[in-house]
Amino acid sequence: MTDQDTYRNIAEYYDYMHEKNPEREKFFATIFRDNGVKTVLDCACGTGGDLLMFHSLGVEVTGSDLSDSMLDRARQKIEKNHLPIALSKVDFHKLSDYFNKKFDAIVCLSNAVNENDIVIDKALKSFKSVLNKNGIIIFDQGQTDFTMKNPLKYFPVVNNRDFTRLFIMEYNNDVMKVEVFDFLHTEEENDFRHSEFFIKIRLYSDWQTILEKAGLTAEFYGDWNFQKYSPSESKRLIVVAKKK
Ligand SMILES: C[S@@+](CC[C@H](N)C(=O)[O-])C[C@H]1O[C@@H](n2cnc3c(N)ncnc32)[C@H](O)[C@@H]1O
Repeated sequence: MTDQDTYRNIAEYYDYMHEKNPEREKFFATIFRDNGVKTVLDCACGTGGDLLMFHSLGVEVTGSDLSDSMLDRARQKIEKNHLPIALSKVDFHKLSDYFNKKFDAIVCLSNAVNENDIVIDKALKSFKSVLNKNGIIIFDQGQTDFTMKNPLKYFPVVNNRDFTRLFIMEYNNDVMKVEVFDFLHTEEENDFRHSEFFIKIRLYSDWQTILEKAGLTAEFYGDWNFQKYSPSESKRLIVVAKKK
C-alpha cells in the first residue's frame, strides 16, 4: 500500500462483506490448537473482525495494519467490546522494527499479501522475523489455478436490502485490477463509493517457489474445511507455512 490510504473509501462499509463463517472459525480453532498457538499477530487486520474472532478462541491477540481508516474501525470494535487487543499502525514489511516480541502465529488474510505494491520476499522475511521457532504463518486468497482458467469479470459480492457491493475485474498479465462499487440504499440514506485495488495474481506453483526461497515449508488448503488444495478444483488458496 502506498502512503495514500487506499482503503479510505471502503473502510466504513467494509464489514458488510463479512458474514459469520463457522467453518472458517473452526479452521483457526483447529490450526491454533494443533500448533499450540497462544499468541497471534494479525498484521493486516483491516477492520478487525478477525481480531475479535481470534480472541474468542482464547489466544492473546495483537493487530496491526497500515490503513488509518481500517484501523479506526478495528479500534471502535475493540473499545466497544472492552477487549485486551493491542492495535498499531505498522507496515508488515517491517514488523520487527515495531514489535520486540515474537508470536506463535502471524496471519495476513483476504489477499493482503497480494496487494500490488507488496514486496513478497521482504514481507515473508518480516513475518519470519517476529515468528516463534515452531510458529505458523497463515494467509489466503480467492484467486486459484481453477478460478483463473476462466477469470470473473464482475462479481456482486453483497446484494441485500440495504447494501450492494460490486467488484469489476480487469486483468493485465499477472495483475488484476479490482474496482469496488459500493451502493448504500437504506430507507434513510443513499450513498455511493468507488475504490480500486491492484492485486498480483500468484498461483500454486508461484507460491511453492516463493515459499521455498523464503525458507518456509507449507501446507496448501483449498477451503476452510481442510480440503487439500486442488489446482483443478479449489476456489480458495490457503497457506499454512512454517520455518524450515
Ligand atoms: C483486503 S484487506 C483484508 C483485511 C482483513 N485481513 C480481512 O480479512 O478482512 C487488506 C488489508 O491489508 C492492509 N495492508 C495492505 N498493505 C499493507 C502493509 N504493507 N502493511 C500492513 N497492512 C497492509 C490494508 O490496509 C487492508 O486493511
